[in-house]
Amino acid sequence: MQELKYNHIQVSELTEDQAREELEILAAWIAYHDELYHLKDAPEISDSEYDALRERNSAIEARFPHLIRPDSPSKRVGAPVISGFSKVKHSSPMLSLDNAMADEDVEDFLTRTRRFLGLDTSQPVEIVAEPKIDGLSASLTYINGQFSVGATRGDGETGENITQNLLTIADIPRTLSGRQVPKQIEIRGEVYMQGAHFNKLNEARSAAGEQPFANPRNAAAGSVRQLDPAITASRPLHFFAYGCGELPSDIAIDTHMQFIELLKQWNFVVNPWIRPCQTFEDSLNFYRELNEQRASLGYDIDGAVYKINRLDWQHRLGRVARSPRWAIAHKFPPEQGQTVLNEIDIQVGRTGALTPVAHLQPINIGGVVVSRATLHNEDEIARKDVRVGDTVLIQRAGDVIPQVVSVIKQKRPQDSEVYQFPNTCPVCGSHAVRAPGEAARRCTGGLICPAQAALRLYHFVSRPAFDIEGLGLKHIETFYHEGLIQTPVDLMRLEEKDKASANPLRKREGWGEKSADNLFRAIEAKRR
Ligand code: IVH
Repeated sequence: MQELKYNHIQVSELTEDQAREELEILAAWIAYHDELYHLKDAPEISDSEYDALRERNSAIEARFPHLIRPDSPSKRVGAPVISGFSKVKHSSPMLSLDNAMADEDVEDFLTRTRRFLGLDTSQPVEIVAEPKIDGLSASLTYINGQFSVGATRGDGETGENITQNLLTIADIPRTLSGRQVPKQIEIRGEVYMQGAHFNKLNEARSAAGEQPFANPRNAAAGSVRQLDPAITASRPLHFFAYGCGELPSDIAIDTHMQFIELLKQWNFVVNPWIRPCQTFEDSLNFYRELNEQRASLGYDIDGAVYKINRLDWQHRLGRVARSPRWAIAHKFPPEQGQTVLNEIDIQVGRTGALTPVAHLQPINIGGVVVSRATLHNEDEIARKDVRVGDTVLIQRAGDVIPQVVSVIKQKRPQDSEVYQFPNTCPVCGSHAVRAPGEAARRCTGGLICPAQAALRLYHFVSRPAFDIEGLGLKHIETFYHEGLIQTPVDLMRLEEKDKASANPLRKREGWGEKSADNLFRAIEAKRR
């Protein structure tokens, strides 16, 4: 693809010829990244880099409107519909939201709204503030209370029919019962994956030699757009409902908050953070509080959404192009940062798999200090060409293990060397080999490898197995290195062995009689 030639020139300084050429290249770039993001679920650039491309495109178009191309990215939202799924025409378009980056943009939104509605500043305009879930939007059609068709957003007008896949999501009710069930309604909401589930899925993908997903949103999108619903069913997906298409005439409500209550009553899962706000300050306080809680929610959000509560006002406000005038997204800064990768540490798992972990110059991302990030496996290091000494882009969000997104190549030290993945185990020195078709290189040391041995012992006492409480991995490692336990049989004889030991648990710092006795009792109980 052609490079952007005039990126260093401010839009106001561009000549017409430069602008024409730049718009052509931007159209090709944005189409390329759209395809990676929407169709392959494998983006190569961060959201903010992508937004910057779109913003640049819009700024040039604003200055040279006669140069707007027929294939301009500004005329498209979202993804084209791909083959494999049948098409579904939405009863009303699935819109996107305008973004507010700064507090002033939110104030402007409220001022514009008042002006449009002809209200003066003394008249309150109630807002409903909600988290902006970072997943993929879906539309669910219910006819006479029965879930009948589910679709992706697609290009906003027409989406893909993913009914079978959505049926695998437990949060989506199959039938609506209770008050005010309309003849027909399109429920809108967000399909998402929790950070903890995303970590597990990526671990399994890395181990199976598949490319890990870049983030939970891509994982959710990739899971929902599977032609085989059994694959979707195996992925832990969730759904938050937050709105509908056209409000059906057989529903009598006046506010968005009342609609949220209806959703709950129909058994949809509604985000617990949805709050009415009376003033601009209330909205900003909500935004700040939400941002503080962001890391502990367990799923990704990328901002707050403010919606005008009164539905008659929403109706009057209508929309401009692809966004409603009655709502705006107040975005959070991306949870990304750049830092230096000091070292690549290789960890050895229970089955001997070598897992690379990046040790970073500690960096504060969204209030959390990050000093390690996952690199998944050997192929991922090669694919991203990650080297020791590189400045890397780190992303963390929700409960997701921090990840190395990409390398900032411009900041690479001149003497840097391609990273050589070790072919021996860093713990026991045995050969580490990669079986054909496997992503992981594995230590061949088996039980002579202390890392594998201790982890297998730990696995033995863990909850899904013998479930012996009071024995952490650290304890097991210590006992193993001391020679106190080497096999599960030794574990079962721990009390006996401990009695003969020169350094019995009862006398050890951090143990004491009580916890030692509890442990022996827990083991005794499992013996039977
Ligand atoms: S309301 C008229 N509420 O953000 C627009 N959208 O760029 C209706 N989103 O495609 C959207 N959380 O997928 C709304 N609480 C929320 C949302 C939300 C996430 C997504 C939605 C939409 C995108 C807008």
